[in-house]
Amino acid sequence: MSGYKNFAVAGAGTLGIYIIDELLKEKATGKVEKVVVLTRSAAGNDALTAKGAVPIVVDYDSPSSLQSALQGIDAVISTLGGAALAVQEPLGDAAKAAGVKLFVPSEYGGDTTGRTEGLFGIKNAQRLRLGQIGLPWAIFVTGPFADWIWYQSYFGYDLANGKIEVGGAGNGVTSWTSRTDIARYLVYALTSLSESTLHNHVFKIEGERTTVNAALKGYEARTGKKLDITYVPIEEVQERLRKDPTDFKSFLALVFETDGTNGPKEEMNVEWPEFNPQTVVEAMVTYKP
Ligand SMILES: NC(=O)c1ccc[n+]([C@@H]2O[C@H](COP(=O)([O-])OP(=O)(O)OC[C@H]3O[C@@H](n4cnc5c(N)ncnc54)[C@H](OP(=O)(O)O)[C@@H]3O)[C@@H](O)[C@H]2O)c1
Repeated sequence: MSGYKNFAVAGAGTLGIYIIDELLKEKATGKVEKVVVLTRSAAGNDALTAKGAVPIVVDYDSPSSLQSALQGIDAVISTLGGAALAVQEPLGDAAKAAGVKLFVPSEYGGDTTGRTEGLFGIKNAQRLRLGQIGLPWAIFVTGPFADWIWYQSYFGYDLANGKIEVGGAGNGVTSWTSRTDIARYLVYALTSLSESTLHNHVFKIEGERTTVNAALKGYEARTGKKLDITYVPIEEVQERLRKDPTDFKSFLALVFETDGTNGPKEEMNVEWPEFNPQTVVEAMVTYKP
């Protein structure tokens, strides 16, 4: 076992709240001692405190503020949003100075290894930087959030209103993992695995690998609801991306249509064979906004 018992989560957002909840479940069993939540704001933290977390207001521009918040912390789990990744650099420096043993950078998507451009490039660079400052890291490659993504209309997926726009034919295979399962896997890993397994390790996790069409069909069968699905030819998706390389909706559609998997199936979930994740359809119907 790693022996990690004291955790700091940076950013209680879309994913962070699930990881905090899972850590607090383990706190109730005695496996975890302390769950600190780093936040920029003193307001709105009552619910976290009531559940047993310790919110600490930090200034990401102040090394002493970060170092003081990280005293006694074994592992920092960053769940900062995509627009906030730059603050992981000072956070990593402060973690090293405070004696933190492991840093989990904010990844939780496709494998960024070797990427140099866009959001994936930034994430990879952050991981390399952690190595440079001598802080062991672990990253979690999860694929798209199997519960959340279907309710994001700006990606073309508007399950709440029964309207879906698929980029391409919808038959490419993708690895999907729900936020509940990402949190379960991450907390299992950090509290149960040895440091030699955790340090500088890429965890590839997968709730289910399936196609967009199969997921939508499964949702219709499960709920009895008929979805209004339109298809955008893949050539048009490619053209949109050529015109605007920052068009994340088209980028995602292209990934899902070509290869959205996290790698060969035998490389998935290997550190926790008893994982037993939700299917994509289960994740779709249990989504909480
Ligand atoms: N695979 C997928 O489908 C998928 C989907 C969504 C996200 N992701 C990835 O998951 C990770 C977490 O994303 P998320 O959507 O959960 O994050 P989020 O909800 O956008 O943000 C998380 C927290 O980051 C803090 N934050 C925001 N802006 C900040 C700033 N400028 N400086 C410092 N802190 C800031 C906020 O906490 P405070 O206000 O309390 O400080 C916020 O609650 C990211 O790496 C993202 O790319 C993956």
